[in-house]
Amino acid sequence: ETVFVLNGPNLNLLGTREPEIYGSATLDDIAGMLEDRARELGLEIDLRQSNHEGHLVDWLHEAQAVGAKAVLLNAGAFTHTSVALHDAIKAIRTPVIEVHLSNPHTREAFRHKSYVGMAAKATIAGFGPLSYLLALEGAHRL
Ligand code: DQA
Repeated sequence: ETVFVLNGPNLNLLGTREPEIYGSATLDDIAGMLEDRARELGLEIDLRQSNHEGHLVDWLHEAQAVGAKAVLLNAGAFTHTSVALHDAIKAIRTPVIEVHLSNPHTREAFRHKSYVGMAAKATIAGFGPLSYLLALEGAHRL
């Protein structure tokens, strides 16, 4: 079974992007960590990143079409703006787990609203790269 790990805008720059907030791990580092754990759990990871909102919408549809077990979604800033992602999550039966490295609720007010979180099954935030691993554990137990 496959778990999609979808990453939105600017997450390709992880490692060098505001490391005081997001840490020094790159998206490749996170992919490696997830793949190690997925192997132990008998799961496959399909990790993708795009800076384009529509790609994330298409990939959510694809997750359902291919029968993915779950989607871990860090939509980056689209979290706080995207009715399209909200609707896409509602449109599929595949469980979607919202993931954030930082805890948006401790940050600027514009990060306090999550269109993704209002549609997602669950949210994990604030653990840095470990947020992804905890979300994978959750997906495994669904
Ligand atoms: C983020 C939090 C968002 O507010 C921000 O726009 C990001 C990263 C996180 O993982 O902490 O791009 O999703």
